[in-house]
Amino acid sequence: MLSKLFSVVALCASQIAASAATASSTRPVPTYAPVPHSSDGLKLGPDNWRVEPFGHGAYMATDNQYQAMFYISDKGVIVVDAPPTLGHGLLYAIGNTTSIPITHFVYSHYHGDHIGAAYLVHQKGHKKPVIIAHRDTREVLKQLDDPNRPLPNIVFDEDYTLRVGNQTLELSYKGHAHAPGNIFIYAPYQQVLMLVDVVFPGWTPFSGLGRAQFVPGYMKAFDQVLQYKFKHFVGGHLTRSGDRADVKDGREYVHDLRANCIRAIELSGQPGNATNPLAITTLLPPVQEANPRNPWALFREALEAAAEWCADETNKKWKNRIGATDVYGFDNAYTMIESLRLDWDILGPFGVQN
Ligand SMILES: *[C@@H]1O[C@H](CO)[C@@H](O)[C@H](O)[C@H]1NC(C)=O
Ligand SMILES: *[C@@H]1O[C@H](CO)[C@@H](O)[C@H](O)[C@H]1NC(C)=O
Ligand SMILES: *[C@@H]1O[C@H](CO)[C@@H](O)[C@H](O)[C@H]1NC(C)=O
Ligand SMILES: [Zn+2]
Repeated sequence: MLSKLFSVVALCASQIAASAATASSTRPVPTYAPVPHSSDGLKLGPDNWRVEPFGHGAYMATDNQYQAMFYISDKGVIVVDAPPTLGHGLLYAIGNTTSIPITHFVYSHYHGDHIGAAYLVHQKGHKKPVIIAHRDTREVLKQLDDPNRPLPNIVFDEDYTLRVGNQTLELSYKGHAHAPGNIFIYAPYQQVLMLVDVVFPGWTPFSGLGRAQFVPGYMKAFDQVLQYKFKHFVGGHLTRSGDRADVKDGREYVHDLRANCIRAIELSGQPGNATNPLAITTLLPPVQEANPRNPWALFREALEAAAEWCADETNKKWKNRIGATDVYGFDNAYTMIESLRLDWDILGPFGVQN
């Protein structure tokens, strides 16, 4: 990841130098807590990609920021996802591993950061690969009309078994969680499971719990993952693949976050004292006085105070176990508090009071 970021920095260095000379102010450089070594990935090759074999023709390709997969069968290669950061690196990774052509292409979900380089895979070779995805993925892509993400040829609603030569992938949609149409992709022979943007092995979830569209479904997905028999887990992000322990850690983190955020919402509705800095009865009057006729200012103050407290409580336990709790912990707590209020109807001081 660093070498890639450094190469990006090197590319832009002249522009940065030029703008630094003219800019009157710059953003302060953030310094976050050091990342535990257990979060580290393996070294990238000179072209900033690497391949991780899981045996029997199953491979992860990554730039230590995003992850894609490919499965080599005796009849053709199945590719899963095409993240733009990996870009041509995905085709090089496949090309350096096999000369068997790509015949099938699975989209984990519609998000551009995971399949925005699909057109590269689609253009590759003489015959365009067959694209398989969930029906919702095709529906959303139809509306977005993006030439980088060609429409799927085959769609399904719940389960679909993809057999190509000696490789089998079981595709399954289990409901609304991260994004419409986000599917589980399971190789039963190799016991490799891929589910993108839910579990982030070794890391705190990306902001907003990986930008989960439905947090209750997002939390349920951890249990659905653990129902599979898998040795390797591919989450679509960052430095490394995972195993069952990573998924259990991820599950525990979101459950801790939820419990602490419930406590924070409760505290905001209770009387203030030295151990309860969240009580809106003491927190909000000065905010109201300073911001007359602005209810949004009050909401923001109360919810951010609760989210900060929830993140601090959660990070005490997790900061040495996973990477970047202090980068996205607050954002995840804020998302959890909003979900507790809107999805689970845990409203604290914003509930019926009279
Ligand atoms: C399928 O065939 C490919 C290509 O011959 C081989 O690399 C791979 O190990 C085989 N996988 C399985 C599951 O048999
Ligand atoms: C193998 O990888 C190198 C370096 O990334 C790349 O330049 C080359 O084109 C790849 N070979 C194939 C056949 O894809
Ligand atoms: C402070 O408030 C919290 C929340 O209402 C309560 O649990 C705690 O007992 C109070 N402590 C004191 C010293 O009153
Ligand atoms: Zn996504």
